[in-house]
Amino acid sequence: MGTVILGTGSCLPRNVVTNSDLEKIVDTTDEWITSRTGIQSRHIASGDEYTYKLSARAAEKALEMAGVGAEELDLIVVATISSHMLMPSSACFVQNEIGATNAFAWDLNAACSGFLYGIDLADKYVRADKKSKILVIGAETLSTRINWEDRNTCIIFGDGAGAAVVGYSESESGYIGSNLSSDGSLWKLLHMHAPESTNPNLKVPDNTGAHIVMEGREVFKHAVKAMEDAVRGLLEREQLTLDDINLVIPHQANIRILNKLKERLQLPEDKVFINVSDYGNTSAASIPIALDEAKRSNRISSGDTVLFCSFGGGFTWGASLIKW
Ligand code: ACO
Repeated sequence: MGTVILGTGSCLPRNVVTNSDLEKIVDTTDEWITSRTGIQSRHIASGDEYTYKLSARAAEKALEMAGVGAEELDLIVVATISSHMLMPSSACFVQNEIGATNAFAWDLNAACSGFLYGIDLADKYVRADKKSKILVIGAETLSTRINWEDRNTCIIFGDGAGAAVVGYSESESGYIGSNLSSDGSLWKLLHMHAPESTNPNLKVPDNTGAHIVMEGREVFKHAVKAMEDAVRGLLEREQLTLDDINLVIPHQANIRILNKLKERLQLPEDKVFINVSDYGNTSAASIPIALDEAKRSNRISSGDTVLFCSFGGGFTWGASLIKW
């Protein structure tokens, strides 16, 4: 008994951009992108598909699955680094869009780890008040934060949103725990500046604009090690082994990171949920989108123990366990 995910939902933008499409924009090839990242296509937002719009559509599906009305929600947390406005938060826009009139709402910035941080936080609220119903969303339109002339980054990221309704259950299932970490000393390896300061005294040196800058090889090494350590630490603390895990849903960073992680943890192919080829790296949205797909395709059954792990800018990383 404890904190459970009552429903999941996801939403992808209509427009699909393939590797061949990217060949027309930057000096790259389908072969390079596929072999280095495993990504074949990604969804890119257009029209009014802002982060909050994708979030709201994902949220409506999650609420429907949960059988929870929007007005029953107490809190909405949107994990994102790509809101269309700095203020109000995407969460406030979602609150209005879905009619969650009784919820307070705010955004959480933990890059690709945002959804796991959000679920952990929701667990604390639910433990404090079992009646709480919390909507946790991971959503990005990173296409708005990419330098489309930088072939090192523009091929990796995609847009989308995933949502989970969190509440309390007396059943045997529930949130087991998490192992979350951050290390701000390594920020330079993966970062995004804010828009240039209008206060001349507070200009940030080397501000190259509000788009993603990445040292790919360094990020790769840190990501694999951090996720491996987070998983091992969590399993040890909870006195579980990988044999106790039915499904692993990792952050969909890229296929080589995921393959390395599988190799280090000796995870069998069929225990790891991977969809990065279709969506690219959707940052905070990647785990909730994968979770929703896994749930709706019956990859998760009642009684299953599901392991999540993530790594992203900050650096932020972690692992979480939920018994379904
Ligand atoms: N197309 C063609 N060539 C390219 C491209 C491209 N899109 N991008 C880079 N190259 C070239 C480079 O310029 C370089 O050329 P050079 O040898 O002439 O200098 C060559 O390919 C090799 O470049 P590397 O950066 O060394 O390539 P690497 O094998 O490291 O692959 C990659 C790059 C895919 C980014 C890899 O480092 C990686 O996967 N890093 C992890 C990054 C990541 O997943 N970030 C997501 C955010 S964090 C997270 O979600 C975990």
